[in-house]
Amino acid sequence: METDIIVLAAGKGTRMYSSLPKVLLPLAGRPMLAHVLGTARTLQPRSLRVVVGYGAQRVREAFAGDDHDLHWIEQREQLGTGHAVLQGADGLPDAGAALVLYGDVPLISVATLRKMIDAMDDAAVAVLTQQVADPTGLGRILRDDGGHITGIVEEKDASDLQRRISEINTGILCARNSHLLQWLDRLENRNAQGEYYLTDIIGMAAAGGETIQACTVSDPLEAQGANNRLQLSGMERSLQRRRAEALALGGVTVLDTDRLDIRGDVRCGRDVTIDVNVIMEGKVSIGDRCHIGANVVLKNCELGDDTVIHPMSHIEGARTGAHVSVGPFSRIRPDTELKDRSIIGNFVETKKSVIGHGSKVNHLSYIGDTVMGDRVNVGAGTITCNYDGVNKHRTTMGDDVFIGSNSALVAPVSIGAGATVAAGSTITGDVPERQLGVARGRQRNIEGWKGPAREQE
Ligand code: UD1
Ligand code: CA
Repeated sequence: METDIIVLAAGKGTRMYSSLPKVLLPLAGRPMLAHVLGTARTLQPRSLRVVVGYGAQRVREAFAGDDHDLHWIEQREQLGTGHAVLQGADGLPDAGAALVLYGDVPLISVATLRKMIDAMDDAAVAVLTQQVADPTGLGRILRDDGGHITGIVEEKDASDLQRRISEINTGILCARNSHLLQWLDRLENRNAQGEYYLTDIIGMAAAGGETIQACTVSDPLEAQGANNRLQLSGMERSLQRRRAEALALGGVTVLDTDRLDIRGDVRCGRDVTIDVNVIMEGKVSIGDRCHIGANVVLKNCELGDDTVIHPMSHIEGARTGAHVSVGPFSRIRPDTELKDRSIIGNFVETKKSVIGHGSKVNHLSYIGDTVMGDRVNVGAGTITCNYDGVNKHRTTMGDDVFIGSNSALVAPVSIGAGATVAAGSTITGDVPERQLGVARGRQRNIEGWKGPAREQE
């Protein structure tokens, strides 16, 4: 059946105590609403409508550039879920069904929603319900003696007896457009909260003798909404644990599934080991037999086979070849390429640079805007001075270059293949191939020199 999706995202989220609208608060590194929209898009709806209200402008801005398929609809006053859907349903064609999702129920799965849409083949409306141990605050599903759904009652309107019902309304539902539009027109706000309840359409469907399908979620995390940051953090932990477990089940050695955070898409080869407190963001691809040490952050990077990232390293926007070693305590910044068998040691920062095959930058260096050949050795404390206060300049090093410790290479500068720079040099001009560049004061030893002496007493 053709489906239109209406996502409710107008609420403020008072209990989040945030300057951001609730649906922009992040879960696994992305706004909650982004998760919902991703799921919605997978279903390829005929239209994807997002009802915004509180902070509407900010919500729209957060998706600028990624909203070609979104219909933004503004609900100026938050008069209830029924009112919100009424705004979102504007101009819906009669044929097909509308699926209502919540911007703050981010983990609903495509599989569950497909089941609901399929259930619409012989129903006027389908609701997603769940059995819970503690139904406090939620709408309760009312059923007659035959087990047929007769309506939904909100907690604030429920009798003591109804409050004991443990089957709750997750809020997510799907209704035939033709019926939905009529039901929405008839909604009233004579209830405990003075709101237009979307849930009242279920009672209308029952009274009209329409077929109501109840779908259930098997996984409680799917239907979970975040109303405060404690719930949000609980969801974050559950989601992260799942992702870590999925990696482990896929053949990765995850040393502690409670201490790995994946805020993006991660692909791992065979026999990868991930030590504790690792954070991965964006798109991360890890080759076979890689070892990721403790407290490492990997963001948008690609690691070749047999690469080892030692503890406390931060790698972003970089690519490594095979058998590369990084860290401990390294910072690899965007547009760094570390070729096969290169070594980046401790307290080394790189940016926009190519480190050649088998080249080594082992200790305490900054390499920026540099293209380095193969088998280069960069001594401890070497700095590329790539910035003159206005512009960035490039450094090039040919194959087999040797840079002595504590050298400053003032770019633009080029060190020819096989050349050596003497330790402690400040190199401001090119060094030709195979020559030695020395740029420091020559050592003098003073014979018979007498140091200060104490006065005799
Ligand atoms: C709603 C359901 C309740 C269900 C619960 C599940 C109704 C009347 N009740 O209750 O049965 O158990 O969800 O969490 O539907 N929103 C708008 N505009 C509005 C009002 C709400 O966009 O005018 C959005 C909110 O931002 C939120 C969602 O709709 O994302 C649900 O609203 P909320 O006020 O949290 O509904 P509940 O009272 O929790
Ligand atoms: Ca709610």
